[in-house]
Amino acid sequence: MKCRICSNPQGVSTSFGDMPIANGFLAEKDFQKEYFFKMETLFCDVCKTYQLIEQPDPEMMFHENYAFFSSTSKNMAVHFKEMADGYMQDFIPNKGNAFVVELGSNDGIMLKYFAQEGIKHLGIEPSSNVAEVARQHGVNTISEFFGAETAQAVEAEYGKADIISASNVMCHIPDLNSVGQGVDALLKETGIFVFEDPYLGSMISKTSYDQIYDEHVYIFSVLSVQNIFAPHGLELFHVEPQVTHGGSMRYYLCRKGTRAVRDSVKTQVQKEKDLGLDKVETYEKFTQSCEKSKKDFVTLLTKIKAEGKRVVGYAATSKSTTVLNYCNVGPDLIEYICDTTPLKQGKYSPGMHIPIKPYEDFKNDNPDYAVLFAWNHAEEIFAKEKGFLAQGGKWILFIPKVSVFETEDKLKNAI
Ligand code: TYD
Repeated sequence: MKCRICSNPQGVSTSFGDMPIANGFLAEKDFQKEYFFKMETLFCDVCKTYQLIEQPDPEMMFHENYAFFSSTSKNMAVHFKEMADGYMQDFIPNKGNAFVVELGSNDGIMLKYFAQEGIKHLGIEPSSNVAEVARQHGVNTISEFFGAETAQAVEAEYGKADIISASNVMCHIPDLNSVGQGVDALLKETGIFVFEDPYLGSMISKTSYDQIYDEHVYIFSVLSVQNIFAPHGLELFHVEPQVTHGGSMRYYLCRKGTRAVRDSVKTQVQKEKDLGLDKVETYEKFTQSCEKSKKDFVTLLTKIKAEGKRVVGYAATSKSTTVLNYCNVGPDLIEYICDTTPLKQGKYSPGMHIPIKPYEDFKNDNPDYAVLFAWNHAEEIFAKEKGFLAQGGKWILFIPKVSVFETEDKLKNAI
């Protein structure tokens, strides 16, 4: 067991047991041939990177049936509009000559604003079904994995980029060395490389272990990002915490020495040290917190079932796959999970095989409890689910600790 970044063999590992593909929603006929891998994480004590030890082949996760469409969340649409506006305002004063590249551009949720302004852009998105949706929105997109080779081909055809952006993508890519080389090949001398991903500090503070699943090969911190990209001549010059995905961090990098390093970097590094993100003991404690969360979740669901009450799941997120499989919770404890994604409806949850039903079924049903798997979208969900609480329904949350909520405010404060 070695660190993927620095090859150091020492650190803390945590096992979450056998896991299926997080977005691998499946039909009953496919239960027998379902794929599982051993989900185990490592915190490397040298480069401070938190990572998955084993990861399924990328082709098993990102393909023509990829079930995650960024634009299903209204708040995410607003978030990416703000990101595009920020780029245009702060980093490409000369829009006419600019070239913006997005890695893992999904259905074009961010790049479409550049397309609308007539700014040269390119999306590099390996899942061909979501890439096709982007093209339909007028977003220039190729279906490729990003690495040194793709970067060279893109540079030869389009020239160098002012901005290389990636949201919830870098944490998916095992070979960050190849990404570093690719960025080096594609970025203008004055260009910036910006990415955002779920933040390790948030995961540790909230015991939100559901951020760990096959696609998330890394959960980054400021300390680890500095160490990962320094060998490629890239320097972290700014960071901005984000509320998305239950707590994310946006990292701004440039070629070393081309921009002043802002105070935000120093401040966040200190916060990470205060939180102990650089120490093995923190991850040993995290392992214990995950075990406690698992025990509490199963105890609560079992008690509710013994009382003859009904529990359903709200939103069949990738994150829910980790929770359900780690806690070994199946349809005997959670009747069904409702979800707005047509591709998931009528199928079963990966591993535990809980039926996925259309959102309307939840609306017309009156379950006693609903587990909020999309806790990161609480605001958006509560705005449309006032009726659930009004009719006596209760929310169950497992972040930061397993709890039942009868009012919206208490739940929002808990997150
Ligand atoms: P997200 O937390 O972005 O998922 P992931 O853990 O996979 O990154 O949530 C997206 C999923 O939640 C998607 O399957 C759609 C579903 N969802 C609903 O069903 N209703 C909602 O109101 C929202 C916001 C999401």
